Amino acid sequence: MTAAIELEDVRVSFGRVEAVKGVSLSVARGELLMLLGGSGSGKTTTLKTINRLVEPSAGAVRLDGEDVRRMVPHALRRRVGYCFQRIGLFPHLTVAENIALPPRLSGWPEERVRARVAELLALVELPLEEYGSRAPRALSGGQQQRVGVARALAAEPEVVLFDEPFGALDPILRESLQGALRTIRARVGLTGVFVTHDVLEALALGDRIGVMRDGELLQVGTPRELERAPADPYVRELLEAPRRALAALEGDDA
Ligand SMILES: Nc1ncnc2c1ncn2[C@@H]1O[C@H](COP(=O)(O)OP(=O)(O)O)[C@@H](O)[C@H]1O
Ligand SMILES: [Mg+2]
Repeated sequence: MTAAIELEDVRVSFGRVEAVKGVSLSVARGELLMLLGGSGSGKTTTLKTINRLVEPSAGAVRLDGEDVRRMVPHALRRRVGYCFQRIGLFPHLTVAENIALPPRLSGWPEERVRARVAELLALVELPLEEYGSRAPRALSGGQQQRVGVARALAAEPEVVLFDEPFGALDPILRESLQGALRTIRARVGLTGVFVTHDVLEALALGDRIGVMRDGELLQVGTPRELERAPADPYVRELLEAPRRALAALEGDDA
């Protein structure tokens, strides 16, 4: 079967900095792949090659088998939802209008747009009647982030790219939004790549995890595969971190 997303030996250079050094990966339809790594490891740059916010200096990116270089950028971005850490909701539009924007740009009839907005607001637990006509600034950070997720999904994109969408939130709120995303996945299915520096988040959300360090993809596998057979000491260390933290906590009790 053709992969929904495929990167083949993708390289990205910014002047003399090699930000991505030959990354190959594929994401199956219905799968959420986590890109996990420290700051500056090349996660965001890798992600942005998928919707051509960044052009690789070498290698190829394919969506459903089709090279993204052959797609018109605005058509490509309609097929690919994108959700950032600083979501950048449009401040002068209401919550409902923010979510309606991508489907409107895709030319959906108004009735279908309205139904979709209501459906998505219900999905992220911000009912239309209560939240739809609010300005983004009248929402908490966590609620704004939910709207960002809803907007990324609004036009029924084939794939969704998440770049640390919950990174700026406190741990409890983050966990609740992770739960919301899991619910969404169970209900509507989702294909995408999710960037995070948080190993707990990677474990909580990912079907598979790709570990990045210094522009390289060290290993891709299910959480269990990474834990059982880490291909690199760094992978082992990352996967052991939650357990180490727990052990330290239990040591405090003793
Ligand atoms: N537009 C850019 N111009 C120059 N260097 C960049 C640019 N974007 C990213 N970089 C560099 O590429 C490397 C990887 O960055 P990035 O992909 O943002 O990492 P991550 O998302 O894992 O934190 C870093 O060294 C960063 O400074
Ligand atoms: Mg980043």
